[in-house]
Amino acid sequence: MTQLRDAHLLVVGATGGLGSAICRRLVDEGSRLTLAGRSETKLAALASELGEAVVATISADLSNPAGPVAVAAAAAEDGGIDGVIYAAGVVAFGPLGELDDDTFDELLLLNFVAPVRLLRSLLPQLKPGAVVVHLSAVVAEKPMKGMAAYSASKSALTGFSAAMGAELRRQKIRVLDVRPPHTQTGLHTRPISGVPPQLGRGLDADIVAGRIVEAIAADEADLPASAFA
Ligand SMILES: NC(=O)c1ccc[n+]([C@@H]2O[C@H](COP(=O)([O-])OP(=O)(O)OC[C@H]3O[C@@H](n4cnc5c(N)ncnc54)[C@H](OP(=O)(O)O)[C@@H]3O)[C@@H](O)[C@H]2O)c1
Repeated sequence: MTQLRDAHLLVVGATGGLGSAICRRLVDEGSRLTLAGRSETKLAALASELGEAVVATISADLSNPAGPVAVAAAAAEDGGIDGVIYAAGVVAFGPLGELDDDTFDELLLLNFVAPVRLLRSLLPQLKPGAVVVHLSAVVAEKPMKGMAAYSASKSALTGFSAAMGAELRRQKIRVLDVRPPHTQTGLHTRPISGVPPQLGRGLDADIVAGRIVEAIAADEADLPASAFA
């Protein structure tokens, strides 16, 4: 079992629908959190809600190389971390012919490049027994038409997680790839480009967050979409 009480965890994308639900669950378990997000206002509101459990907050744009470095530096200030949950991300919709370069770049930067850069910067700070959690998505298992670039960005993250799991095992660092189905956070109503398809009702964000925190505590090695059924 991974001890969550008094563990210091970095949550990136803490201000998002899933990120904030994960933060609340972790605080219920007694964890101490460093919160990373883009909006300072949202970070301040979340920190105020979570109270003394918050070690630090860091606002950074993860789409440029300095962002992950700044987040890792903030997490270092308390003498290393017991884990990181990467829950930042963006989505876009539409056929390939309508995919513009800025959208493609941002999808890859947020969903794949930033977590790679972040983990590279965090390596010296991860204590033995630490856990690295990546929020990929069901589309890494079942890529969808009209979401090709998003699906590919998540497949890349899932592939990276698998390789890192093997690479970091000797250092006793566990990498947990999480591939949730559609969840009611409003993400699909905020695409960086394109028009959302009819997705139907998604899973409850608190239930998804609860399952993720359960997997962290229970030392699970993989959390496929079927784990949320
Ligand atoms: N919701 C779903 O159906 C679903 C299903 C499977 C997987 N996922 C994945 O789960 C993750 C979280 O999704 P969500 O539904 O919680 O989305 P969300 O509510 O939109 O949250 C996204 C988070 O990413 C942050 N972010 C976006 N652009 C950023 C940037 N340039 N720099 C720094 N931070 C940035 C946002 O910060 P601000 O709040 O400051 O903007 C926010 O904290 C994503 O990777 C998503 O692909 C979601």
